Amino acid sequence: MRNLIDILDLTTEEIDELISTASDIIDNPGKYAEACRGKILGTLFFEPSTRTRLSFTSAMMSLGGSVLGFDQANSTSVTKGETLSDTIRMVSAYTDIIAMRHPKEGAPIVASAVSEVPIINAGDGGHFHPTQTLTDLMTIKRKLGRLEGLTVGLCGDLKYGRTVHSLICAMSRYAGVRFVLISPKELRLPDYVKDEFLKDGSYTEITELEAAIPELDILYMTRIQEERFESHEEYERLANVYELDANKLRNAKPTLSVLHPLPRVNEINVDVDTDPRAHYFEQAANGRYIRMALILKLLGTRGYSDNRMSGEESDTLECRNPHCLSLTERGIVKLFRDGVCIYCDQKAQNK
Ligand code: CP
Repeated sequence: MRNLIDILDLTTEEIDELISTASDIIDNPGKYAEACRGKILGTLFFEPSTRTRLSFTSAMMSLGGSVLGFDQANSTSVTKGETLSDTIRMVSAYTDIIAMRHPKEGAPIVASAVSEVPIINAGDGGHFHPTQTLTDLMTIKRKLGRLEGLTVGLCGDLKYGRTVHSLICAMSRYAGVRFVLISPKELRLPDYVKDEFLKDGSYTEITELEAAIPELDILYMTRIQEERFESHEEYERLANVYELDANKLRNAKPTLSVLHPLPRVNEINVDVDTDPRAHYFEQAANGRYIRMALILKLLGTRGYSDNRMSGEESDTLECRNPHCLSLTERGIVKLFRDGVCIYCDQKAQNK
């Protein structure tokens, strides 16, 4: 059984294969219309979603399968105190594959340890969002023809933006990719992503958007993640710090691809929508096809084990990330690998 917890669970060859399958699905949808007849996808969304949940639903229905699940935790027995582990044990008895979104980081790892069926991480807190990255990579490949040798600008909330973290993990594996990290200093990329995935010289960190635009092949705009801020005043101060508009694109390359995982708030003016370089709605539409390809792959994978619970207990270390599920889930075994919490990837502290 195989899961998708973070994007590095897939090799670059497997990502190429998924993009090829997704493109074949677009060209030949009838070939796949019965591929999952009799199979059930569980969509467990403990956090709001439009694109991810509905594109997973559409993907499974387009494969001839069925879908059950929920779109908010308050309609489930979590409100009676049930743990995530027990919820997953039950849902995995009713389904063949599960896509889950949870506000706590590491939740899909906890789920994969008890599930009888493949777990797909559809977003865990401010940590990772690997299926968004598949959507992003598919869009880049179809628009620019390659994933190598690109200059990628990432703009906005790089601290809490899980789509940014997963995209950097994925694209840092391709030769010649450079990142321009554009954010206020309060919302810079976390060290656990930078230290693990970015080599010296492969990135620059800046605060100004406009000056960076002419050199970019991709401009990946992101929303400031209001729901992850400790203080509303701090969010208000940073909320409208970037706004891409048609005027700011006047010196951009004609081949630039403007992407955004969506939803947007004010960071892309609607006057950009008609620019032929604006690809964010097509990006979201691609999500349906790449998720069809992913469901087919995970349901077809046999004799594979990707146990993520490898690590050691510690008498001296503890995770202090307030967003990590390991701090609140009852019965969880707290594990560390090389001084890092295995659930949220953040550096552990001495007790
Ligand atoms: N990109 C994305 O995850 O969108 P939703 O939150 O609408 O699923």
